[in-house]
Amino acid sequence: MKKILITGGTGYIGSHTAIALLEAGYIPVVVDNLVNSSRQSIDRIREITGTEVTFHEGDAADKTFLSHVFEKEGDIDGIIHFAAHKAVGESVKEPLKYYDNNLNALITLLGTMREQGVAPIVFSSSATVYGDPEQNPIPEHAPIKESYSPYASTKIVGEMLIKDMTKSGAKISAISLRYFNPIGAHESGKIGELPLGIPNNLLPYLTQVAVGLREKLTVYGNDYDTPDGTCVRDYLHVMDLAHAHIAALEHLFAQEAPFYDVFNVGTGKGSSITELIGTFEKVTGVPLNYEIGPRREGDIAVCYADSTKIERVLGWKAERSIEDALRDSWRWQKGTHSSSK
Ligand code: NAD
Ligand code: WQD
Repeated sequence: MKKILITGGTGYIGSHTAIALLEAGYIPVVVDNLVNSSRQSIDRIREITGTEVTFHEGDAADKTFLSHVFEKEGDIDGIIHFAAHKAVGESVKEPLKYYDNNLNALITLLGTMREQGVAPIVFSSSATVYGDPEQNPIPEHAPIKESYSPYASTKIVGEMLIKDMTKSGAKISAISLRYFNPIGAHESGKIGELPLGIPNNLLPYLTQVAVGLREKLTVYGNDYDTPDGTCVRDYLHVMDLAHAHIAALEHLFAQEAPFYDVFNVGTGKGSSITELIGTFEKVTGVPLNYEIGPRREGDIAVCYADSTKIERVLGWKAERSIEDALRDSWRWQKGTHSSSK
């Protein structure tokens, strides 16, 4: 059985990926400094899968800590690197925090991989690297745009760094996955997205309004050049996204290092905010209190993936519908809210 190190593995996408890895017969080893998550994820993974996951609490940018993890674990067959700060708005106010954490964690990890002779890494990138795209659906060969945020810049530079490493003679093979908009939760309702404080992203805000934690959702603008005036995004179930990492790892295991490629991870379909709200109300039966507000600075009108490359090369495509994702988000939100009372 192959052992996979997951940095940021107690976070939203990492914890779902740990479950998918266990179910696919891998041994996940989680590293996280809990800066945006809690140890409870490890308990929940055990409850869902019946398997204890090894957890090392620490900072991926800490070379001594990371080397210790590699030595303690022995043979690590592959890495999925999720660990990063991810709040776009905060990154504009605190660029140093974002460049420091996101790039130093990656630099330290790549250096340790080279020393330890571990080849494959899957990197969490983001559709944000495309900026305001010239075309939709967006193919991988679309230009990387000057970024709107330090967060996006860390993903652009992260991709460049990884690609440069694979050209440097180091035996590193890598795939960058550019996620579109992950939503949803594990169908058990035991794990999901748990933002600290006021959510920045649409789905956690929406479900917190629906459950009564917040009064009203503000839809940021209905005067965009889209069919109903609200922004269009490619919303993707987090468990589908988790499986994309396994497809990427399996592709890497079949390649000779050095190797580098990049894939969009999206459904290939765009949904507007109005459509999303309507679908949420339909699948949950819960009416949503919302109002139309002004545009949010930095938002783009339309962003959805050309997902043909990942389907053709990795054999991955989204299996779950937006209805499934909304139902699962809601199940998670209801459980979380009632247990926190
Ligand atoms: P998350 O915040 O839930 O998970 C990230 C985890 O990394 C957290 O548990 C945090 O504690 C940990 N972490 C951060 N810095 C660390 C460090 N230096 N050392 C160890 N642990 C550290 O976020 P997520 O939504 O699960 O995102 C995972 C990855 O996917 C991130 O790289 C993010 O940028 C990327 N991504 C997320 C989205 C999204 O919408 N959620 C979209 C595109 C890309
Ligand atoms: C979705 C839509 C908002 C909140 C961000 C990052 C991107 C990636 C995913 C990491 C937009 C609207 C939102 C609200 C709203 N993350 N909205 N009211 O902006 O598409 O992408 O997360 O890589 O890099 O930029 O996601 O969930 O914030 O917004 O109307 O309270 O919902 O305007 O159109 P976004 P989001």
